[in-house]
Amino acid sequence: MRDNAGHVPDRLPTMNAPDHSAAPFDFDRIIDRRRLPGEKWGRYAGRDVLPLWVADMDFAAPPAVIEALHQRIDHGVFGYTDAWPALEEAVTEGLLRDHGWTVEPDWLVWLPGVVTGFNLACMLAGEPGDGVLTAAPVYPPFLSAPANTGRVLQRCELVLRDGRWQWDWDALERAADARSRMLLLCSPHNPVGRVFDADELRRLADFAARRDLLICSDEIHCGLVLDDGRPHRPIAALNVDMARRTITLMAPSKTWNIPALYCAFAVIPDAALRRRYRHAMRGVVPHANVLGMAAAEAAYRDGGPWRAALLDYLRGNRARVLEAVAAMPGLETTSPEATYLAWIDCRGLMAARGIDDPAAFFEAAGVGLSDGRPFGAPGWLRLNFGCPRATLDEALRRMAAALAGAQEK
Ligand SMILES: Cc1ncc(COP(=O)(O)O)c(C=O)c1O
Repeated sequence: MRDNAGHVPDRLPTMNAPDHSAAPFDFDRIIDRRRLPGEKWGRYAGRDVLPLWVADMDFAAPPAVIEALHQRIDHGVFGYTDAWPALEEAVTEGLLRDHGWTVEPDWLVWLPGVVTGFNLACMLAGEPGDGVLTAAPVYPPFLSAPANTGRVLQRCELVLRDGRWQWDWDALERAADARSRMLLLCSPHNPVGRVFDADELRRLADFAARRDLLICSDEIHCGLVLDDGRPHRPIAALNVDMARRTITLMAPSKTWNIPALYCAFAVIPDAALRRRYRHAMRGVVPHANVLGMAAAEAAYRDGGPWRAALLDYLRGNRARVLEAVAAMPGLETTSPEATYLAWIDCRGLMAARGIDDPAAFFEAAGVGLSDGRPFGAPGWLRLNFGCPRATLDEALRRMAAALAGAQEK
């Protein structure tokens, strides 16, 4: 943002925004999303289906973010805008404060979205025909991104061992070959909800170093760690070598529930890699949205108290999901360490009750869940518990009632 004299002001006017640190946040409030266009509720327009699918939450954004948006909108002029110093400062201070990661403002590359960000990263992974490794089940665009740029998906499976999703290190080695060029990592992981620990990250780092791989680490869910004592660690922060070979993708969108404001960023410490990345963007990738950037500044700088209250609320919702699913015959799940997403195994239900499409089964009962198939896992469902408790309880009640009514084979 430049003033009339061409100076770049240090801070947006949100500096004068009221202090929201003591504000109570009402996550129980039901906001009618049916009245507006939107993917999540729009899918079931005119039907009594509670949508617990696409990964956005039914909560209003933090008051500090809404205030910053009001102030920016009230200015009335929405010209082309590059990132400004106070935005970069809010982000770099946030990354240091929340993840102990020291990032230089120069390392930031602003993007309209994280999916854009990892598709771009695939373009830097060697040549067409080279391999991009990823661990499934995973957020569906991971599985299609390599082919979008002529790369080959090299997929290994995460395994459920001792009630916890884990890396299968042998499978990772087997998936790789001489043409592997990049590891596309989801950390924390959607949909299995794992926060990878220091040992796992070190092992991945060794693997990438040994094979001289680029790493693209999608850390969009890093602000949503639910388990105390399991801090999110950016893989790029492990050591200088990892920093050099990693493109980390982050955004305020999941944590502060502003995905349609289209603002994300890549952190690319290595200058040459950053140059190649920016070059790949040229003429193809638009600027991040100015309202998204104004919201990001407020979120990273002032959104801490709201985030803490949100995590508390989500922990309560998670407990309800775990308890309810444990009582549902044929369904099994694990406790997500991060995200507001529960990943549910329905194969027992399918086998015992002759239900061949669990997503359709629950949708007919009035609950819209994400089908596991696009994640690479038929027979699984993903449940989004980022909603007011009354909505969640009603959805869980409907699921239980549907199961109670389902016929034994
Ligand atoms: C792991 C992951 N990456 C990226 C996205 C979407 O990011 P964006 O909307 O910024 O493209 C999602 C949304 O659910 C996600 O879960």
